[in-house]
Amino acid sequence: MSGSRKSRALFTSRFGVIAAAAGSAIGLGNIWKFPYITGVYGGAAFLFVYLAFILAIGLPIMLSELIIGRKSRKNAFGAFKKLAPGTPWRFIGSFGVGAAFIILSFYGVVAGWSIRYIVFSLTNHFHNSSPEAISSTFNAFITSPGEPLVYQIIFMLMTGAIIMIGVQKGIERYSKILMPLLLTLILILDIRAVTLHGAYDGLRFLFKPDFSKLTYEGILSALGHAFFSLSLGMGTLITYGSYVRKENNLVQTAIQVTAADTIIAILAGIAIFPAVFAFNIEPGEGVGLIFITLPNVFMQMPGGYIFSIMFFVLLTIAALTSAISILEVVVAYFSEELKMKRNVATVFATILITLLGIICSLSLGIFSDVIVFNRNIFDLLDHISANILLPLGGMFIALFIGWIYGRYKVLREVAHGGKLKGQFLKIFMVLVKFIAPIAIFIVFLKGIKVLDFLVTFIKTVIF
Ligand code: PHE
Repeated sequence: MSGSRKSRALFTSRFGVIAAAAGSAIGLGNIWKFPYITGVYGGAAFLFVYLAFILAIGLPIMLSELIIGRKSRKNAFGAFKKLAPGTPWRFIGSFGVGAAFIILSFYGVVAGWSIRYIVFSLTNHFHNSSPEAISSTFNAFITSPGEPLVYQIIFMLMTGAIIMIGVQKGIERYSKILMPLLLTLILILDIRAVTLHGAYDGLRFLFKPDFSKLTYEGILSALGHAFFSLSLGMGTLITYGSYVRKENNLVQTAIQVTAADTIIAILAGIAIFPAVFAFNIEPGEGVGLIFITLPNVFMQMPGGYIFSIMFFVLLTIAALTSAISILEVVVAYFSEELKMKRNVATVFATILITLLGIICSLSLGIFSDVIVFNRNIFDLLDHISANILLPLGGMFIALFIGWIYGRYKVLREVAHGGKLKGQFLKIFMVLVKFIAPIAIFIVFLKGIKVLDFLVTFIKTVIF
């Protein structure tokens, strides 16, 4: 990518691909959003539905995106133009660009919070604070009109700068070393959390399902989060797939990235929920859950001062490797389709996204009385992008691979650098042709209440 349009730069090693794709997948989605929505939607039952979606829908769609990207060697929009010329399929790419735009706007806000917490950690701000005091500090911070914006802008500047440096130097180098370090730190936190007094209640909340608590909104969010967490449905992995060498084994890459992403989310849950119960925090606390819970844990551990700094530094970097993958979707589109110069495209996209992010941030404070469809703007943009745009994008990607691209070409593309055994190919094709699209469609209609409406409508018309 740092090269010219004619010779697209490729990832240099197999590990580079996995590191970059995992770097995209692993981020605030795993560590901030997963615990927070699991808490809101009641714990284990939500987790199990989420895991089912990851396996039956996430994994096959991840492989589909990688296939589309590597075959076409194009951005999300250009890929469909090349593989299905003259058809409306290319609009899936536009969906993706829209989703990327929206997601990065609120993502940058939360990543800014993480940077603020590096500073809180450095100054030992929470030393001897009660859980209530930590909670009010957090709330005062995110609702203030100036401070969060400063941190959000710092984060967005870093994201834009890395995109300008280019794919290999930028993405590959940073994610290789830091992700394993993050994993280690979360494991240390897990050990501290499960040995807290009262930890058992948290583990039960996370792992012992009570399906009666599950709502349709919860199911829709589990689906949306499967896409969000794996970076699917908007062409991120199409764009990354376009930089993957032919020798790379796509099936293996998809499995490894999915496994790594899911394991990190569950480990983050194990670090959070025991502490939530031990410190009497409300599991459905919302967007602040980890920011209120974790400082309590750090205070209870030897070396907590250092661990806290390290944790928020690594969380910020994990957010950064995801954010660059989101911005890359927009920039690749602007530069390859709209023929903007890459650097101009980067500056332009970064500024627009930051502006939308500022509105998101203010919607938690001074604009909090702006409510659309029962949500503030921050929640609304999260909901529209994660729960609507990504699943819809994913549904079309699955349909495209299943019905248009077809079994024969799938087999041929996967055969470079790997194999899809007969039986797995069959399962894969059934998943992308039928299971994934139908499941997404049903959950989607039900989740946005269209199905309820239809059922009532039909009942009243017939009876
Ligand atoms: N998967 C990233 C995370 O979990 C967020 C993301 C969403 C990245 C969509 C790319 C595309 O933090």
